Amino acid sequence: MTSVNSAAHILDKQLKNRIRRYGPMTIAEYMNAAAEFYYSQGDVFGVGGDFTTAPEISQAFGEMIGLWSAVTWQAMGMPKPCQLVECGPGRGTLMSDALRAARQVPGFLESVEIYLIERSNALKTIQGETLKGHKTVWHSSISDCPDGPIILIANEFLDALPVRQFEKTKDGWRERQVNIDKTEQFCFTLRTTLSEDFNAPINANIGDIFEVSPAVTEFIGMVSARIVRHGGAALFIDYGHKASALGDTVQAVKGHKFHHILDSVGTADITAHIDFEAVIRAARSVGANIFGPIEQGIWLKRLGISVRGALLAKDQAPSVATELESGIRRLIEPNAMGALFKVVAIVHPGLPSPEGFSQSGSYE
Ligand SMILES: C[S@@+](CC[C@H](N)C(=O)[O-])C[C@H]1O[C@@H](n2cnc3c(N)ncnc32)[C@H](O)[C@@H]1O
Repeated sequence: MTSVNSAAHILDKQLKNRIRRYGPMTIAEYMNAAAEFYYSQGDVFGVGGDFTTAPEISQAFGEMIGLWSAVTWQAMGMPKPCQLVECGPGRGTLMSDALRAARQVPGFLESVEIYLIERSNALKTIQGETLKGHKTVWHSSISDCPDGPIILIANEFLDALPVRQFEKTKDGWRERQVNIDKTEQFCFTLRTTLSEDFNAPINANIGDIFEVSPAVTEFIGMVSARIVRHGGAALFIDYGHKASALGDTVQAVKGHKFHHILDSVGTADITAHIDFEAVIRAARSVGANIFGPIEQGIWLKRLGISVRGALLAKDQAPSVATELESGIRRLIEPNAMGALFKVVAIVHPGLPSPEGFSQSGSYE
């Protein structure tokens, strides 16, 4: 048994003991425990890992975000200092590519203080190596960053935050839980008492599942309140639905294949789709402006990723050029990541429409 597997076995035992002692866990509690353990292992990304994210596919992804950040900083009146915060930086690739591209904008790098929000010590070490030469400060929560103008970026961060699930029964809504069955395996059960502490959809049938993420709502509310108070903008890229909808979207991926979320806890990446309608509500409730969601492919093309891709491929050996071009296509084509992933920007009400979003400031 490898050390990761034996440590995961300990997590499995701990969670089962907890259930025996205190009763079934919510899906959110299970996801949170699994994610904390999973990311503590270190590098889980790329071909040799469990899944591949956009910055690992093409350097142009982080470069576009770096230029977006620098142009947003100009629109903010070029504050110094300005916090450049990335939530869930993975290997640190996005930030590294972003800083290289943003160097073209005079004064930007000298004005930003870089903060990385990460709770995995193993990933902090990898991020430190990737970002060698840049002064970076790590925090485990955005609330630890000092007050002041902020530009926040987050790719595939919100989807790692836990969700609660509720199932419609003949008597009403009951929360879905993780329990243990007679064979000592994890299983799903429903809470015996009814749940009324969420905005239940009215059009549900018996057996339908509805998800809410207090963690996402609280996080978006906190970031938006900081932006309204101190100025700035936040950019989120994730997959999800534009309007709140019924359905079980919690999924786990291991070795680039789907994995049952209750199997070998802590060894797979568990995520849930983002309810962008809930994100919009949370941002607006504190007075922030929100743009999008817009498809990632459209947004990247508006920022000029195809031109950048052609420039990268120019003068390269044909095999390298083909690989570079296919990376860009994977990011923008609707049948690859282009339509599944969406982009939203939360901005201070005094700022103009951010780059890549239309003037309307709503759904696109
Ligand atoms: C799917 S990875 C995304 C990595 C990176 N953004 C990329 O695009 O390659 C999720 C990241 O969020 C971090 N993370 C997950 N939950 C977190 C939490 N509650 N607080 C801080 N970081 C968290 C993980 O450790 C990891 O760095």
